[in-house]
Formats: sequence, C-alpha cells, structure tokens
Amino acid sequence: MPIQRDTVRIAALGDLHYSRTTVQGSLQPLFAQISDEADIVILAGDLTDFGTAEEARGLAREISGTLKIPAVGVLGNHDCESGQQAEIRAILKDAGVSILDGDTTEIHGIGFAGIKGFAGGFGRRALGPWGESIIKSFVREALDEALKLETALARLRTERLIAVLHCSPIQDTVEGEPREIFPFLGCSRLEEPLTRYPVTAVFHGHAHHGQPEGRTRTGAPVFNVSIGLMRELFPERPFRKFEVDMRPTVPERRAGDRRVVEPISRIENR
Ligand SMILES: [Fe+2]
Ligand SMILES: [Fe+2]
Repeated sequence: MPIQRDTVRIAALGDLHYSRTTVQGSLQPLFAQISDEADIVILAGDLTDFGTAEEARGLAREISGTLKIPAVGVLGNHDCESGQQAEIRAILKDAGVSILDGDTTEIHGIGFAGIKGFAGGFGRRALGPWGESIIKSFVREALDEALKLETALARLRTERLIAVLHCSPIQDTVEGEPREIFPFLGCSRLEEPLTRYPVTAVFHGHAHHGQPEGRTRTGAPVFNVSIGLMRELFPERPFRKFEVDMRPTVPERRAGDRRVVEPISRIENR
C-alpha cells in the first residue's frame, strides 16, 4: 500500500539468533510493535543461531501472521553454520522476508542493497592479502563481499539508498567489544562502496556489545542494531527507528552557487 506521508519509517534490528530453545511466540509482541510503528523492517543477520532450516521455520512462524509490513534482511555468520543458507533464504522468503546477498530490492521508493559482509579488521590494522594462501583467501572473502555491495548499489536507481550488512564496515560501531576480536567483527574494505554512493544510512549487526552509531568517512550514518545492544539502550523499544525523508532533493540557490539541500532523515530513538 502506498504511503501518504513525506517520510518512510524504518525499524531495524539484528541478531535474533532464533534457536530450538526459543519459546514459540516470544517474538510476536516485538513484531507486532514493529508493525505498528514502522513501514519497513530491516533484519541485519544472525536470524538463526545454528543456521538450520528448522530454526528458520521457527522464526518464519513468528513472522507470519504477526509482521504486517515488508521485511528486508541479510544472513549473518550464524546463518552459515550448517550450510543451509539457501533453505533458510527460501523459508524466510515464503514468510515475506527478502534476504539480500549482493542483490537489491525497492520498497516504498527506497532502494536496499544487502550483503552479509565478512571479517578482516579496520583501517591500517586490517589484514592484508600477503603470505600464506589461506590468508589471501580470507582477505579475498571481504573483497568479494565489498564488490557484491558495490554492484548492488550501482544497480539501484532510487534517490534514497540503504545498505544492510551483518558485519560492520567501520570500527566506531564495534568499540566496546574486546579489542582482540575487532578483526572478526567487520572490515574497512566493506566501507569502500559506501563512500562511493550517496547512501542515506547503513545498518549492521554482529557486534552485540558495540556502539549504536557511527559514520562512514564520507559522513553516512552507520547503525549497529544488534538486538542485545538495542535491549540495553531502548528496553521499551528494542529496535532502531529511522525516518527517511522522501521529499525530492531540492537544489537551493545561494549567492549564485548551487547547493543541494541534504535529505535530513530523523532518528527517533537515540
Ligand atoms: Fe550475532
Ligand atoms: Fe554474527
């Protein structure tokens, strides 16, 4: 149904880690609340705990019948544990969740590009493709994920772009985790495509004890929406809510030069 407002409300959360021991029905109040308060929900990976189709079916049951808005997400490292990613993706698709893996979708005029992402570390401390071939393969994985994100972003023609990852593309949102595991929480190589396209916002999970907010080096807001962190910060509403201003970007003339008014999108809980 088209939205009769200037803004589209996005709810985002990650790391549901749905498992065999999750009590059936326990996520339904959360999905009902999200449906009331948002127009789109983003699920930022680690949807299941051991990556089994059985867990995905459990999560699909929570979603079906409760979640009334479109959902878009990515898989996380936990969703890869049992090698059943294709099945998980298909089960969640049937429940109305579109899982992106280097592909795109458009909802309510917003373009979404998603990848799982990978590890490797940040900045000058990032692991380089040097030495043993296994190290080169490790680094190659993050490069391949970054390339998938870049290709997806290039394909979108919408004025508003949102990137969804599981791993973090920047160090700021993993601060708070033990420093020893920073290299396993994300990789700066994932930030590259985000600096080349005018992304409105970036969402990721994976860093359960990180920081909720940071920015890419070109200024795009990055939100860590891991549910553990969300529960800690916003116990009444354990997800991030973000409003995207959909009014067309208006070129404004000032003293003869052309300045583009940035689409300011509002962050409701911070
Ligand atoms: Fe997780
Ligand atoms: Fe994870």
